Parts: sequence; structure tokens; C-alpha cells
Amino acid sequence: MFTKPFTQQCPIPQVAQKAALEILQSGRLHRYNTLGNETSPVATLEAAYARYQEARYCVAVSSGGQAIQIALRAAGVQTGDKILANAYTLAPVPGAIHAVGGIPVFVEIAENWRINLDDLKHKAETSQARFLLLSHMRGHSADMDAIVQICTDYEITLIEDCAHTMGAKWNGIRSGNFGKVACFSCQTYKHINSGEGGLLTTNDDSIAAQAIIMSGSYMLYERHGTIPPAAAFEAIKLKTPNLSARMDNLRAAILLPQLDELEDNIRAWNIRYDTLLEGLQKSSKITIPPRPNAEEYVGSSIQFQLELDTEQAQEFLLSCSKAGIELKWFGATTPHGFTSRYDSWQYFDNLPELPETQQILHRTFDMRIPLTFSVTDCTTIAESLCLIAVDF
Ligand SMILES: Cc1ncc(COP(=O)(O)O)c(C=O)c1O
Repeated sequence: MFTKPFTQQCPIPQVAQKAALEILQSGRLHRYNTLGNETSPVATLEAAYARYQEARYCVAVSSGGQAIQIALRAAGVQTGDKILANAYTLAPVPGAIHAVGGIPVFVEIAENWRINLDDLKHKAETSQARFLLLSHMRGHSADMDAIVQICTDYEITLIEDCAHTMGAKWNGIRSGNFGKVACFSCQTYKHINSGEGGLLTTNDDSIAAQAIIMSGSYMLYERHGTIPPAAAFEAIKLKTPNLSARMDNLRAAILLPQLDELEDNIRAWNIRYDTLLEGLQKSSKITIPPRPNAEEYVGSSIQFQLELDTEQAQEFLLSCSKAGIELKWFGATTPHGFTSRYDSWQYFDNLPELPETQQILHRTFDMRIPLTFSVTDCTTIAESLCLIAVDF
């Protein structure tokens, strides 16, 4: 019986705890509450994350979902515009499309959980959509060479949802640097943890200026960490709404030291991921599609496939749970503990039939890999899963 919780994150680093305490003692939690020429922790985080991401601009906001909403608006989405999106993602993604008045055009996924490129091409052609909101769901980066080509061919603006790929790369280029704008999450289960929080990055002056105003800058945009030229603000500042989605200094103070540890943590995640992968590959029942060579991943979760009917899948989950192993299964018809099935987003009219996505999700199981697990824990979990799978 494995006893460690799958939801237990590492403690916030000591240096971050100290920084947080200093902010609390100062009372200046609001990002624009600065004294004299002081740079706020949020502005410092923006500059640091832009450097890490190798992007010109970064805007810190209150959540990944808010980063996506702002990115969509700043990229030019208007009410009634169609937005291509992979059908396997998390609820904040369709939620953002809904919030900006977009009409989703959901695209099938492929066996390896990435967007199905043939279906994307087909829907790009037939829907006339001018935007693609691409989620690198569970850290599986799409074939970015093919994506960029499709977006160029069909004049589609690419918005990347990198909630699960902070720190990952495709052909040596950071995930998030392929489209017009990228969105990251700092929610507890992501690669840096402030409970809630989001980061938006772009190289585009106008998108950065709009995102700053929308985030809720009260025209105090000169206090940001990365600032586009004044002309970019002059062009949009009276035509852009304030959506009040600022990040506060407390969260930024917690995040900054974690950014310094991110590369070490990525190595720690990947040792654990690779251990689980090697262990699970010993089972003849379990399938894990190979990852593309171009991908440098961050293994903060692992997915595998097991061909089971609904009753067997529920029994498998129960056996795993009895062994202390917490899995998510995307085959259940009613969402429970996840909201990643497109057919549960019934606030949209005319949800399409996507049989491939349904079938793939039906055989997909998902497991978090918290860094509080040791490498030995990962060996133990893989051995238990292989043993349980023998009976199915
Ligand atoms: C794929 C994906 N996109 C976007 C988000 C939005 O992030 P947040 O929870 O910070 O709003 C999440 C959050 O978990 C996610 O899993």
C-alpha cells in the first residue's frame, strides 16, 4: 500500500517564505503600491520571467485562465469569432473562449494526446476560423513545425496555452515562443506554485500594451517589469477595458525564488517520469505512445492507455485506489475531479461528435507526479500498477 498523497507539493522555498513575510510586514501587497523608485516584486517577476522565457514582454496576472482570456482579446478575438482548440484540455480553456464570446471549433486529438493535425487542417479550411488556442495538454507539445505551417497557410493567429509546458522546449525553442502570445499558470499543481497566478508572454508591442491595460494597470503601466514603447499604449489605452486581473506582490515574492529552482526541478521531474515510464513499459497491458524526439518535456504528470470497458476501468481505478495510487480516468461520462472532456462543456451550443477523442480518452489514465515522491516511490508505483494491470 502506497501512502504518500498525490496532491502534496513541496514546501515553498525558505527564501520565498522570507520574502513573503517581508511583504506582509510592509503591508504593500498591491503591485502598484511602491515607495519612491521601488520596483515591485510583480514587476521584478515579469522581467525575470521574460528573461527565462526569452520573450520581450511578460505580464503577470491573477490566473492562467485570465491570461488566456486577456491573450484572446489582445490577439483580436471579437464576439462571434471562431476559435480552433484541441478537444482535450482543461475547463478554464473553453471557459476563456466562452468569456470572450468566441465560438469554439474543437479539434480531435491523436493517439499521443496531441492535436490531430489532419483534423486541424480540415477544420482550419472548412471553419474559416482565424485563431487557434492550442493547449499543450498534460505537457504533450504539439508538432510545432506543423502547427506553425498550418497557421501560416491559413492565416491563423496562434495563442499557446502552456499551463503544462512551462520550461519545456520543441526543437530547442521554449514552448510558448511559437505563436503571437503564450499563457502560463502558477496554480499549485503547475511548475511554479503561488496557489493561483498566471503569466502572459509575447514579443508583440500592441498585445503587451493591451494585456497590461486589461490586467488592470490604472494607466500605471510605466511600473511594469517589461514595457512596450509609449506609442503602443497611446494607440489603445482609451479603447481597452480594465479587467482587474492583477497579480499581487505576495504571490510574486513566492514565485521569484522558484524560478531560480525551475531547471533543477525539471530535472527532478524527468528522473521521476522516466522511472515511471520504464517501469510501466514492462507491462504488456499498458501502452504509452512514444514522445517525439523534438520535444524536451517536463514530466510533472504521466498518462498511459489501458484497453478496458467502463466497468473494468472502474474496477481498475478501485484496485489502484486500494493500493494507494490515485489516478484520473477521462472515460467517465460524468466529470468527477476533472473537467477535461469536451462533452461536459454544455454551455456551448452544438457540441460536435468527436469519436476519436472520446475513444482515446476512454482508454487514458492520468497520474500526477509530485516532487515529494522519491525515485524509489516511482519504481514502487510502476510495479504496483503493472501488477494490478495483470488482472485486467
Ligand atoms: C490545460 C490548462 N490550461 C489552462 C489552465 C488555467 O490555469 P489556472 O488554473 O491558473 O486558471 C489550466 C489549469 O489548471 C490547465 O490545466
